[in-house]
This record gives sequence, structure tokens and C-alpha cells, in this order.
Amino acid sequence: MKMMVPPKQKIIQLLPLFLLLSFSSLFLFSFYPSNPNPQIQPQVHQNSIPFPITNHKFTFIIKLLTYNRLSSLSRCLNSLSNAHYPETDTVHIHIFIDHFVQDSQNRSLDLDQRLNLSKQILDFVDGFDWKFGEKLVHYRTSNAGLQAQWLESWWPASDHEFAFVVEDDLEVSPLYYRFLKAVIFNYYYNATNFSPSIYGASLQRPRFVPGKHGNKMQLDNESRIFLYQLVGTWGQLLFPRPWKEFRLWYDTHKAKGMKPFLEGMVTTGWYKKIGEKIWTPWFIKFIQSRGYFNIYTNFHHERALSVSHRDAGVNYGKTAGPDSNLLDENSIDFNLLDLYPLNDLKWYDFCFREVVTNRIARTSDELGPVLQSVQKQNSIVVVSLYRVPEAVVKNMLCHFEGLNIQNYILIGPTSRFLLDLARRGHAVIDAGQFSDFSKLAKSINFQDSIIELMKEILVKAYVIKKSLELGYSTWLLDGNVLPQSSDSFIDSFDHRSDFYTGKASKLLFARSSSSTLKIWSDDFVYEVASLMDTLGKDSVSHESALFYAVEKLLEKQSIRLNNFDEMPLCMDVGIGHFNTTSFRKETRFVFWSSGTEFDVIKRQLVHLNMWGVDGDLSCTAVVCHPS
Ligand SMILES: *[C@@H]1O[C@H](CO)[C@@H](O)[C@H](O)[C@H]1NC(C)=O
Ligand SMILES: *[C@@H]1O[C@H](CO)[C@@H](O)[C@H](O)[C@H]1NC(C)=O
Ligand SMILES: *[C@@H]1O[C@H](CO)[C@@H](O)[C@H](O)[C@H]1NC(C)=O
Ligand SMILES: *[C@@H]1O[C@H](CO)[C@@H](O)[C@H](O)[C@H]1NC(C)=O
Ligand SMILES: *[C@@H]1O[C@H](CO)[C@@H](O)[C@H](O)[C@H]1NC(C)=O
Repeated sequence: MKMMVPPKQKIIQLLPLFLLLSFSSLFLFSFYPSNPNPQIQPQVHQNSIPFPITNHKFTFIIKLLTYNRLSSLSRCLNSLSNAHYPETDTVHIHIFIDHFVQDSQNRSLDLDQRLNLSKQILDFVDGFDWKFGEKLVHYRTSNAGLQAQWLESWWPASDHEFAFVVEDDLEVSPLYYRFLKAVIFNYYYNATNFSPSIYGASLQRPRFVPGKHGNKMQLDNESRIFLYQLVGTWGQLLFPRPWKEFRLWYDTHKAKGMKPFLEGMVTTGWYKKIGEKIWTPWFIKFIQSRGYFNIYTNFHHERALSVSHRDAGVNYGKTAGPDSNLLDENSIDFNLLDLYPLNDLKWYDFCFREVVTNRIARTSDELGPVLQSVQKQNSIVVVSLYRVPEAVVKNMLCHFEGLNIQNYILIGPTSRFLLDLARRGHAVIDAGQFSDFSKLAKSINFQDSIIELMKEILVKAYVIKKSLELGYSTWLLDGNVLPQSSDSFIDSFDHRSDFYTGKASKLLFARSSSSTLKIWSDDFVYEVASLMDTLGKDSVSHESALFYAVEKLLEKQSIRLNNFDEMPLCMDVGIGHFNTTSFRKETRFVFWSSGTEFDVIKRQLVHLNMWGVDGDLSCTAVVCHPS
């Protein structure tokens, strides 16, 4: 039965619901601790470098991890104590003294020496006057090691408590606290600059890229502040929520016997060698699975607010000396507190490749720039996420990363999942928000039951039109398809035809050309939609509806159309007897019908070496490509 309501009106009726949905999901993602009227005003201090002031009350705790290096500890504590703290601020220090290793095999004379050293360290710490807040000493009864020292140093008491973790061979700049305070105000308490992706700030000079099996970082042209996924263990400020999340994640994974393996990362090699002595491989794996980032500074001339003297100990066999130059009042030549708005910062992944976050097209005006930002060699791959399980989507994205396919854009209904993908740096089209139907919808009378499908098809057809208009050859790919290689999307087809479709493989290719553009017009988009209505909801499955309509319309205009399904280009792996020997040289894509059970898909893809996600649905490898 047809409802005779003009579609435009219907779509408008639906809009408040879409808006509501997307607003609430945005809200969930942009949580920040509420506090009325944050105010940051510079206050001139006797040292002429001002402190920012706000009415935000937060707790700042230094977590100093030490073991058996008295002179290191002394240098570190003195530098912390000599730093500038405003009189109105309270800064606590918690000192964690690890115990020496009790070695039953070796009850030699050095036991007394060790006991003696521990006593000296305790005496030193007890005698150290900490004027800025409470001093708490945690002396362990047995050797905990660096992993437990770090992890057990903090369980945040609230969302307004921050921990600054220092190992004892660090020396901090007198300016360090001014900077961290400014970071907290600007990137935590200022809603405009807050991102749920940021887990803290490292004061160490960034030097190292753990992907590419551990490379030196090229930083010449980076701005003074940027975001980078890697944790920096030489002076790390931790934000409370991500740290809590990490502790819980670690618990679950450790308890279940999982390992923090991440192929392609040099830290995984370290973990395989020295295991639980270090904690960073766990944190790195967690950060990768959540898509989080750390704030870093780039002060040039090898300067930093925290330097490591790299004294002989757990991390260094012998003393390696300071890694950087300490930035202090004498060497500073810029305004330390001049922090950039979040929108101006660049984000980098473990390969130190730039990540462009939050590219979301919600209107046709936003669509153009987003398409331009993803296209490579004038081609675009539009990936449909409708009705595709999240695990399959995540696997596809890891597969793309492995193949260095970057010119894709994801299209799907409004969802937390879609927005999260955008936060992680995948360009998305939030089709649920797309309301530019005034020209397109005209006066088709859609059946009620297919209005959602209509919206989906209209937006897809419209995106293809827009992409062709911009001069890009355009692929439409269902989430139930995977390319075999990085060349799969290369246009090496018969140029007598500009269109390729496949109802089974759910693939569509439209070559960029003036004739294609003429065919795929506004009217065409409209006709695709109206044809859909006559097809009826039962005769055609949702997944292939668009392909039917496009084929029918092109046939009507006698336009040559090639069929992907009839070529060896695509292989159905959803059928039980498929195996790798069925592949041919020409095979570019594998696909499965949407009815295929998830377990079958996964088993087949594992078998084909095309399954690359773990239990957290994060990639099992970090693959860095030459830029
Ligand atoms: C006992 O400890 C000393 C000092 O750390 C070391 O040089 C020696 O090799 C150890 N002996 C054994 C049997 O582990
Ligand atoms: C322990 O230290 C004290 C001084 O602090 C010293 O007199 C004593 O000889 C030391 N003992 C050992 C075994 O090193
Ligand atoms: C840095 O920027 C300058 C000027 O913009 C340019 O000439 C130089 O090649 C850049 N260096 C790197 C490593 O990108
Ligand atoms: C918050 O950040 C924005 C962008 O950087 C800035 O314009 C604004 O002044 C900041 N608000 C406060 C209260 O500092
Ligand atoms: C793979 O499939 C082919 C037919 O497509 C079959 O002849 C062959 O035995 C299969 N191989 C395995 C290992 O299953």
C-alpha cells in the first residue's frame, strides 16, 4: 500500500530523530568535566613568565619512580623542587621506591650493601623537604619492576586528578609545571580544545618512530605542539579517564593470558625479549586499539622540558648521558604558554604518518572538500557500511592499511561507530544527516517501508555524482568485498565502457569522463530513486537494489555496461568449497553475500590471510609505508 505523502515532507519528519541520535552520540564522545565559565587569564609572576589561572580545581600528583640510584634520585627531586609553582597551587609528590631483587642463590656480601643503599635512599627521601603539597613514600617489600611501578602508581580518584610520572634519572625544567598547567587548562578544561582521543602530554623530546621497526623521527618543520600516538616515558602527564581505561583493559588482557603483540612495532620485539619487565608494549597496544594520542612538544635545538640522563639501570646497561638540552628561563625564546587551538594541531600515528581526524560530510557542501582530501590519482573508493558487521568493517580498514589504500571514504547511517571511525582518521559520510534532498527527492511517493532504503540509495547515487563532478573515477564498494592487492582499484579496464557493475559482487565502477558526467546527472539520481519504488521491497535485496536500478537505467539508454560478476575479477568466498587455488591472476576482489554467517566469513578470510583484527577488533599489525 502506498502512502501518498510527499517524500520531502517525510524526510523532514525523520530529521529530528536523526539529529537527536547524532547529537547524543556526539555528546557521548565529547565528554569533558563540566565546570562553569572556565577563565584563563595570564597572571604576572615574579619570573615574568605568567601562570595561567582558572577557577578549575584539580589535583596534580607527581609520581616519582625510583629504585637504587641515589644520585639520580637526588638530581631528580631537586629539579622537581626547584621548579616554579604558584603559591596558590598544591602539588603532591608520591615516591615509589622499588625493592632490590631478593636472590636466594646469591647471599653474598652485596646483600648488606644493598640493604645499606635502600636505607640511604629512604633516609634521603625522608629528609627531603617538599614544600608544595603532601609527600607520600611507598617502599616496596619485594622487587616490583618497572611495569608494576608504573601501573600501580596511580588509580585516579576523580576526573580532576592528574598524574605526572617521572623515573629517577630524569631532570625537569623549572618551567615544566607552568607548561603542564597550561596544557591541562587548554586541552582538558577548555571545551573547544578538548578531545576524548588525548591521553596526556609528554615532556620528552620526541625522537623515535616505533613503526618502521624503530626509526629516528624527522621533525624539522613540525609546529611547537603536535599529537602523536606514542607514550613518552621521560616525563609523562596522564589524564585520568584514559589511564583508568588502560588499567581495566590491561587487567582483562593480562588475566586472559593475551599478549600485547603488534606486528611491525619495534616495541613488540622488546616485549618478546624482556617480557613483563617493561610496561610500554601493553600501553602501546591499548592506545592502538583505542586510537588515542599524546601531546608532544617540539622546541627545536634539541630542547625539552624534561631530559633523561639515561643512567645505568633497568633501561640502560651503562650511562648514556642526557638525551636533550633542558629548556629553562635562560634558553627560552618564545612564549611557552602560547598553546595552539586543537584544530591547528597535527596528529601522527605510530608510523609518524599524519592522521586527519574528524573528516565527516553531513551535507553536500561538506562532501566536496572531504572527497578532495581522500582522492588519490583522481580516484575515490566509496565503501558502504550499511548492514555490515563492525568486525568486518574493522578488518577491511586494517586490510586497507596493510595495502596502503588511502583513497576511501566510508558511508553509513548515523551511529557512534561511524563517528568513532572519523575520530580515528577515516573519512566518513554521515548519510543519516544528509538532508540535501530538496532537488533530488522531488515528488516521488515512497512506500513507507522503504524510506530508509531510499535515503541510502539517494545519498549513494548523489555521492557518486558529486565525485564524478569533481573529476574522480569512482568505485562503490560494499563492506562485504575485499580487494586482493593495492592495485585492485587501478582502472585498467576496457575503455569502450565507462560503467562496470556487479549485482552479486556489489561493486560499481564509474570512470571519470564527460559522457559519464552527462549520464550520471541529478535526473539520473532521481530516476534511480523512483525506479526503486517500482521495484518493490521484496523483489530485490537491499544490498543489490542500487545495482539493479543503475543497470536498468543504463540499459534503457543503451549505454554499454560491463558486468563484474561475469568476469574472473571477483571471487565469491562465501561458498564453502572456495580455496586459494581458485584464485586467478585476474582476481581483484573477494566477496561474500550478506547472508553469509560471520563465522564462515572469518574462517575463509583467515584461510586467505585476509583477516587482520584481534579480539579488540583492532589491527594485529602496524604497517608503515614510504610516504
Ligand atoms: C652474585 O652477585 C654479585 C653482585 O651482584 C654478582 O657479581 C655475582 O655474579 C652473583 N653470583 C651469582 C652466582 O649469581
Ligand atoms: C653502610 O653504610 C654506613 C654509612 O652510611 C657505613 O658506615 C657502613 O660501612 C655501610 N655498610 C656496608 C656493608 O656497606
Ligand atoms: C621545511 O620547510 C621548508 C620551507 O617551507 C622547506 O624548504 C623544507 O624542504 C622543509 N623540510 C622538510 C623536511 O619538510
Ligand atoms: C578556549 O579555546 C579557544 C580556542 O583556542 C579560545 O579561543 C578560547 O579563548 C579558550 N577559552 C578560554 C576560556 O580560554
Ligand atoms: C581447491 O579447490 C579445487 C577446485 O576449485 C580443488 O580441486 C582442490 O582440491 C581444492 N584444494 C583444497 C586444498 O581443498
